Amino acid sequence: MTDLNLAVIVLAAGQGTRMKSARPKVLHSLAGRSLIAHVLATAGELEPGHLIAVVRHERDAVVATISDLMPGAVIVDQDDVPGTGRAVELGIAALPDDFGGDVVVVSGDVPLLDAATLRTLIDAHRGAAAAATLLSAILDDARGYGRIVRGSAGDVDRIVEQADATADELDITEINSGTYVFRVAPLREQLALVGAKNAQGEKYLTDVVGLLRAAGAVVSALPVTDGWRVAGVNDRVQLAEASRRMNEVIVRRWQLAGVTVDDPATTWIDADVTLGEDVQLLPGTQLKGATLVQAGATIGPDTTLVDCEVGAGAIVKRTDATLAVIGENASVGPFAYLRPGTYLGADGKIGTFVETKNSRIGNGSKVPHLSYIGDTTVGENSNIGAGTITANYDGIIKSETVVGSHVRSGSNNVFVAPVTIGDGAYTGAGTVVRKDVPPGALAVNVAPQRNLEGWVEENRAATAPAAAATSAAESDTA
Ligand code: UD1
Ligand code: MG
Repeated sequence: MTDLNLAVIVLAAGQGTRMKSARPKVLHSLAGRSLIAHVLATAGELEPGHLIAVVRHERDAVVATISDLMPGAVIVDQDDVPGTGRAVELGIAALPDDFGGDVVVVSGDVPLLDAATLRTLIDAHRGAAAAATLLSAILDDARGYGRIVRGSAGDVDRIVEQADATADELDITEINSGTYVFRVAPLREQLALVGAKNAQGEKYLTDVVGLLRAAGAVVSALPVTDGWRVAGVNDRVQLAEASRRMNEVIVRRWQLAGVTVDDPATTWIDADVTLGEDVQLLPGTQLKGATLVQAGATIGPDTTLVDCEVGAGAIVKRTDATLAVIGENASVGPFAYLRPGTYLGADGKIGTFVETKNSRIGNGSKVPHLSYIGDTTVGENSNIGAGTITANYDGIIKSETVVGSHVRSGSNNVFVAPVTIGDGAYTGAGTVVRKDVPPGALAVNVAPQRNLEGWVEENRAATAPAAAATSAAESDTA
């Protein structure tokens, strides 16, 4: 149920300088979703009455992503005044005047945070009637984070940023996760007093904590048990670390749902992937995008599937596939390349060193070896001979090949599109099929073979082949 007394502000205006990237930091991707998409999904689970995103750097790209994922989000543009404090100040200004509830502040660059942790934080905040409750963590390596400075009684006194900290303060291992709940009125009041006299010349949100304490308000910090949950992504090293953590969470979730993962360390599963029971994932498997794998299928080793659908019981080995549909009990690979628009029917096969694109291969049909099949429809239970190539491109336009059902095409054929091979037809080895083949016909167009008897002994006398030929002739007559 929507919590009308709750507003969430997502901070996404920062430049992300440390990423050294043309792309805004919050649009960098983790487990197949942008950083901001993870944060918005978590925020959405809280069902807040108001969801506000503060943007500035690369604003149009960031807004496009936010509006796509969460059309109801209110977008606020940060002005020239830099800092998280300014971002939140403008964020709360977008709330209705009569809003008197709590404001959750989350960062667009903290993607592993989950809704359960946020709920615990909100409950603690409301239970203590605090002015502010912040999520902290005890980290072995606190570098880069703001530190929580506690007084002698153990109460939170203030937060000091890394850049402003004294040597003693840098030794503090309790860090500010950048996730907070504030009561809106005291937050608004104190933000107006925050200046920018600090090492970074920014209006820090973290300064509100010290100001609230000085005003005698209740402020507490709740340390999370899993420090990695609040890890911020500020550079590519942290991005990789967060990806690994997120992957661990996702792999574990699927293992507990009945998926066998032989090697979790080399198996990568995006957040939007769906897996059935008894799916088996072998080492080196990457499942990306909206890939769906049905029950009992085996994927890998060394396979990448992007936005694919794999039917129950299928086997996909050492394969690279994008936007492909693989039918029930079908077999793909090893060393297959399935490009967008590939559809393989139930019990079908796309075998070794086969590339397919924009093609439907019907139930029980097989393309077992060394082929390129593009812009093609194959009916059911047909067998495409080894080394068959569809010549679908004449240099100007792409044309279609249609192969019927129960066709047996010979090895090393070229199907020159547009061309149709009828049901039950055969083609001879080496045929270049330029004309339609009627159902049930055998198409052959290679020149008849001539054997020039004795050619080697005459023209290559005194060579090893000539000696072999002579000895074969002798043993034949013996
Ligand atoms: C911030 C906290 C720090 C905390 C850390 C946790 C402050 C001053 N510091 O530092 O105490 O340990 O997060 O990850 O808040 N942003 C804006 N507008 C701005 C600046 C930043 O919207 O003017 C956004 C960024 O896009 C980002 C978030 O706020 O999503 C945090 O900004 P960032 O620059 O990463 O702050 P940190 O240095 O990590
Ligand atoms: Mg940060």
